[in-house]
Amino acid sequence: MSEHNIKTINMYNNGGAIEYIKHSEIDPETDKWDRLFKYVENSLKKDKTKIIIEFGSGKGEIAIKLQNAGYDVISSDTVDVFLDEEEKQGIKQIKKYNFLVDNFNEVFDLKADLIISWRNPHLDMDDMKKLFNVVYDALTDNGLFIINFQNAEVHPDAKILPNGTKYEYKILPDKKTKEERFYAYYSKEDIEQLRKDLFDIEEYHNEGGKEAKNWHVLTLKKNRILH
Ligand SMILES: C[S@@+](CC[C@H](N)C(=O)[O-])C[C@H]1O[C@@H](n2cnc3c(N)ncnc32)[C@H](O)[C@@H]1O
Repeated sequence: MSEHNIKTINMYNNGGAIEYIKHSEIDPETDKWDRLFKYVENSLKKDKTKIIIEFGSGKGEIAIKLQNAGYDVISSDTVDVFLDEEEKQGIKQIKKYNFLVDNFNEVFDLKADLIISWRNPHLDMDDMKKLFNVVYDALTDNGLFIINFQNAEVHPDAKILPNGTKYEYKILPDKKTKEERFYAYYSKEDIEQLRKDLFDIEEYHNEGGKEAKNWHVLTLKKNRILH
């Protein structure tokens, strides 16, 4: 687990999570959640027997929508304030889980048909490689992985870490927690490198921002045979 992810989690533990929750109450982003919900439903072909696990759920917005629609969903996060909020929202299956540190099998004791990692821009290339391997092992054969990444094309001035991660430390203008946050940006080539030995691409598109390209969004499918 990188120093950047440790700093991110400390930031959420030291006020960032409360602020994130408050912000989502001011701006509920209903359209974005509706869009993601439809995207997940399409990926699963509306099969409600499938087991869905979300990593880094935050307030649990997509988990609650899926649960209310009858899907079998387990939300997870490593920050207690977020986990308490998920419980308050009525999510029935919640796990405290750090996907870079904890043992998936010990925490969940099952395999997932779909894992979602949505809007976690705080992972550098090494953390991301670890996440991809954890997800691969946690999925059933042909299991799906829905993930989005901030698009490096939109951040041409990003700095570069020795491990190749394009990044910035910054304070977003709408945030009161005056602690710099780590944001990593990924090119299509970076994503190819991460996924090529583990997953096939089921769907890929860009979305967000004026030009609809702030984020790469992917549904990946687990390869049964490692190349
Ligand atoms: C920007 S928030 C996004 C939350 C939610 N997915 C959403 O879209 O609103 C990033 C989330 O990832 C969680 N997170 C970051 N690193 C994590 C890790 N190593 N293990 C588990 N959760 C992590 C944070 O606690 C936070 O809830």
